[in-house]
Amino acid sequence: MRATAKQSLLQSVHTVRNPASGTVFSEYTFFRKGTGEIIMCGIIGFTGTANAVPKMLKGLSVLEYRGYDSVGIAAQTEGGVDVVKCKGRIHVLEEKLREEPLPESHCAIGHTRWATHGGPSDVNAHPHRAGRVVLVHNGIIENYQELAEELRGSGVTFLSQTDTEVAAALINACYDRLGDPAAAIRQATDRMRGAYAFGILFDNRPGEVWVIRRGSPLILAKGKDGFYLASDMTALLPFTNQYCAMEEGRIACLTAASAMLLDDAGGSAAAEWKTTAMTPESAQKGGYPHFMLKEIHEQPGAVEKSVSSRIVGGLPDFSADGITPDFWKSVKNIQIVACGSAMHAGLVGARVLEEMAGVPTTVHIASEYRYYPPLFSDGTLVVVISQSGETADTLAALRYAKSRGIPTLAIVNAVETTIPREADRRIYTYAGPEIAVATTKGYCTQVSVLWMIAAAIAYTCGRIPEEQARATVDALAKEVPQAIEDMLAKREQFVRIAKGLVDHEHVFYIGRGLDYAMSMEASLKLKEISYIHCEAYAAGELKHGTISLIEPGTPVLAIATDPGLVDKTESNIREVRSRGAQVTMICREGTQVPEESADEIVFLPNRSEAAVLFASLTAVQMIAYETAARLGCDIDRPRNLAKSVTVE
Ligand code: F6R
Repeated sequence: MRATAKQSLLQSVHTVRNPASGTVFSEYTFFRKGTGEIIMCGIIGFTGTANAVPKMLKGLSVLEYRGYDSVGIAAQTEGGVDVVKCKGRIHVLEEKLREEPLPESHCAIGHTRWATHGGPSDVNAHPHRAGRVVLVHNGIIENYQELAEELRGSGVTFLSQTDTEVAAALINACYDRLGDPAAAIRQATDRMRGAYAFGILFDNRPGEVWVIRRGSPLILAKGKDGFYLASDMTALLPFTNQYCAMEEGRIACLTAASAMLLDDAGGSAAAEWKTTAMTPESAQKGGYPHFMLKEIHEQPGAVEKSVSSRIVGGLPDFSADGITPDFWKSVKNIQIVACGSAMHAGLVGARVLEEMAGVPTTVHIASEYRYYPPLFSDGTLVVVISQSGETADTLAALRYAKSRGIPTLAIVNAVETTIPREADRRIYTYAGPEIAVATTKGYCTQVSVLWMIAAAIAYTCGRIPEEQARATVDALAKEVPQAIEDMLAKREQFVRIAKGLVDHEHVFYIGRGLDYAMSMEASLKLKEISYIHCEAYAAGELKHGTISLIEPGTPVLAIATDPGLVDKTESNIREVRSRGAQVTMICREGTQVPEESADEIVFLPNRSEAAVLFASLTAVQMIAYETAARLGCDIDRPRNLAKSVTVE
């Protein structure tokens, strides 16, 4: 490997470590300013000719990945709007509804919420009611205290500690004054700072669901029996495949007969519908015990699709994404910005971009990007990576780059989301819906697309010969899916390794170069779903302090796939081995591993660099999965996490 690439990878890697503790930051703990409360929610609504309540329950069970500590439904009935809500998951609400059934309703909204601090409770659960208004909210109203103070001054009292109740009260106050839902929503939201997607019922307007979004995701959909809203299309796949993405700040009014989009000038237009390629099956477990396992098994197909759609005549070609060879030629350096696993994908991509395409590339944690602004120069391209397309920190970084006039490119899985809409250019990964909170196929396809971009730049700019470009994309499209399949056949070995990890509190992953980048993803995967503390360490760095944590029995998993570096990593393995570590080595078939070096060896198919990398990825994903499964963890919905992190 060239020295510059090595240095840059190390720099990139260092940007994601806590300089004080040396540990990798967990990117998930986003607290609501002031209260320490954390909000990441899913909303849904329906109005039409069918019974709305079963639809709400079904959709909310899909949206639970966005948050799952309290849940509620509001349904319009003859007597007004009934609200049923509770702390806990959908089954608690279902139990409550069995005891006190709601009358049939054709117009309803629902919500599933996530709070770690500030206490999930019945009263804080959505929907919230204020006067004539009942609403559900995904997002955060930053100035809610100031608004609450003002409303208290006019006699309003609040039952919950949420910003959402304040939003409901403000809309209600405006509605009392103006008597018109659209005007009330516009006037109230003009006063709100922050991010929101609202589904709103007015108790004197039967059959109408009002909608607005700014900063939080929301789509409308059209079914045979009425119209829907939801945070995410997957929640509506059981009912329809026709959707319409909501623009920022746009108000919509849904009735049984229409979905009208309203503009500021009082004009209105019927929503225009698109058809999603997602199917209801794509959002179901399909016989697997967990979505995560299903999604790991979907990786071969997802990579194949993400890569093959960018191969024309055997060569990399992004013209179907609207990206021309001239654009690639204009790129002189790249800044990759993302969070968590997406940022880890960036670390792999950076190395390949430098090594194959010769483009200097740095990787940045999105939440830090604006506070430690990087230097831009002529030919800088900012690449943001996001599975969900809604991550607030990544979006803020994208907006920062755009505000400085820098060209931006988004690599995103979820279509019609905010990040690809705002970026100058976009490349979609074709992972399909990813439901498990911990990403697997999302990460996998991000890496494959980055690798394709590197091949495209390298070939277009004449940095690799045509045969190498052909061989690279061919390996990505064929060898990589096969290598993943080969690893999935080794499940028994992963179970054995997992059994060796479950009784430990601390685990280490070590690796050098690309294997270090993979160690970081491996470590994140293990800790987030199994709750076992795990650190990723550059193998050569261990002896500069961290080795003091190695005790007899401490599990160390060493990834050593680079033939040029394997000897050096083996030396580091011997260092921990002699202090009693229990070592698992992950290396290419044919690597000569001295018997005393490792307790367990996972052999990867000895093929192209890409195939080996994806094989090692599959191994570490499966080790994490089997460990969490043995510990009985909630694999698809690990504690304190949510899939879409839509607040900063
Ligand atoms: C870890 C994980 C997270 C996400 C991160 C970014 O398994 O899923 O680290 O990668 O929150 O999310 P997206 O890619 O949606 O921007």
